[in-house]
Amino acid sequence: MKKKKQNLEVNGFSKLSKDEKIAWVIKNYFSDFKNSAKIIERYMIHDDDLQKIHDEFTENTISNFITPLGVAPNFLIDGNDYCIPMVIEESSVVAAASKAAKFWRSRGGFKTKIIDFKKTGQVHFTFDGSKEKLKDFFKKIKPILIRDCDQISNNMVKRGGGILNVNLVDKTVDIKNYFQIEATFNTVDSMGANFINSCLEQFATTLNKEFEISNSFSKNEEKIEIIMSILTNYVPNCLVRAEVSCPISELGDFKNTTANEFARKFDQAIKIAKTQKDRAVTHNKGIMNGVDSVVIASGNDFRAVEAGVHAYASRSGTYSSLSDVNIADGLFNFWIELPLSLGTVGGITNLHPLVKWSLNLLKNPNSKELMKIVAVAGLAQNFGALQSLITSGIQKGHMKMHLINILNSLEANDDEKRKLINYFSNNTVSYSSVKDELFKIRNENL
Ligand code: MEV
Repeated sequence: MKKKKQNLEVNGFSKLSKDEKIAWVIKNYFSDFKNSAKIIERYMIHDDDLQKIHDEFTENTISNFITPLGVAPNFLIDGNDYCIPMVIEESSVVAAASKAAKFWRSRGGFKTKIIDFKKTGQVHFTFDGSKEKLKDFFKKIKPILIRDCDQISNNMVKRGGGILNVNLVDKTVDIKNYFQIEATFNTVDSMGANFINSCLEQFATTLNKEFEISNSFSKNEEKIEIIMSILTNYVPNCLVRAEVSCPISELGDFKNTTANEFARKFDQAIKIAKTQKDRAVTHNKGIMNGVDSVVIASGNDFRAVEAGVHAYASRSGTYSSLSDVNIADGLFNFWIELPLSLGTVGGITNLHPLVKWSLNLLKNPNSKELMKIVAVAGLAQNFGALQSLITSGIQKGHMKMHLINILNSLEANDDEKRKLINYFSNNTVSYSSVKDELFKIRNENL
C-alpha cells in the first residue's frame, strides 16, 4: 500500500524554544536522529553570550554555519600595507589573491580612486491626471518632502551626509501613469539601507498628505497611488576604481611565457570577456570571489553587492567584463570600476566579533576606504585567475589546493594525508587517482 504523505505544516514554529525547533526539524526531516542532532550541536558556540548574538541576527536560528576566514597579506594600496580578511570556502582564492598582492607589491602596488559616492532610492507611484499639474505640484512640495525627513536625517546630516536631491521622474513611457520620486543620498560610513528606506517612506507619506490638501487637482478624476518605496541596490553613482600598471618588460615572471606574450594573451583574454557573455560571466565570477569574500568579512550585504555589480556589468545592454586593460607604449595598465555600497558602521559591523576583528585588521576603514580595498581584492583575484588561465591553466594549482578536500571526503588520516600530499606534488590530482592511491596505502598497511 502507498504510504500516506505526511502534512508537515507547522504553526507557531518561531515561538518554540531553540531545542524544540531542533527537535521538530530533526524528527520531521531526518531519519538519522542522533547523528543529525550531533551535527547541529557541534556547530553551536559554547559561549552563551556569543551564541545569543548569532541567534539574534536572524530568525529561527538553530546553529551556526561556519565558513573559513583566511587572510591575504602583502597588499600595497595607495602606498599603505594591508592584510585582507577573506571569508570564502573555495580553495585557491586566498592563495591567488596573496600571490597577486605580492606580484604587484614590487611593481608599485594598487592605486585606487572614488569616482562618485551617491546612493539612490525611489518612491514608485502612479498618477492619473495632468502631468503639468503634477510637475508644478512637485516643485511646490519638494522642500516639504525634505523638511518632513528632518527627524530621520538629523544624525546623518551631523555626520556629513543626508538627502542630496529629490526629483520627479516621468516613467509613463515604460508603464501607463507611472512616476517616481527619485532621491539621492550620502550615507557617509553606513551602507544606509535603513536611512534611505525611512526617508523614502516618509516621502511617500508626505506626497499623499500634500496631494490630499492640494487644491490643484480635481480629486474625483486625478489620483495618486503609492506602489512602493525602496532603495535601489544598483549604485552606478557609488563607484570606485582600482588599477595596477607596470612596464610590459616587468611582466615576464610567468613560466614559459615571455612578458610580451603574457601581455598579448592577457589583452586577448580581456577582449574575449568584454565581447563574449559566456566568458564574461565566469570572468566576473572570479572577480566576485575576491569582492564577496571581503564584503562578507566586513559584515556587508553581499547579495546587494552581487545584484548591483552584475547590473553594472550589463549597463551597455550586453553583459560584459568588469575589468579592462590597456597595453600601449610599453605599458601594461589593468583596472576595474565597481559600484559598491558598503558600510563600516551600522548593520552587524559592531555586533559580529569577527566582523569587528576584520575591520580592525583593515585599520578600521571608512566606507570609501573599504570600497577601495574591496575593489582591489576583486582586481587581484581577476589578475590571479587570468595569469593562471593564459599560462599553466587553473586546474593544476586548483586541484593541488582541492586535494585536501578530496582527502577529507575520503576520511584520510594525518599519516595518509602526508604521504598523498607528497605523492601528488608530482602527479596529477583527480578524485579517482587520489582514491586509488589512498586505497593502495590502506592495502599495503593491511
Ligand atoms: C573560479 O572560482 C574562478 C575562475 O573561473 C575565474 C575565471 O575563469 O576568470 C578561475
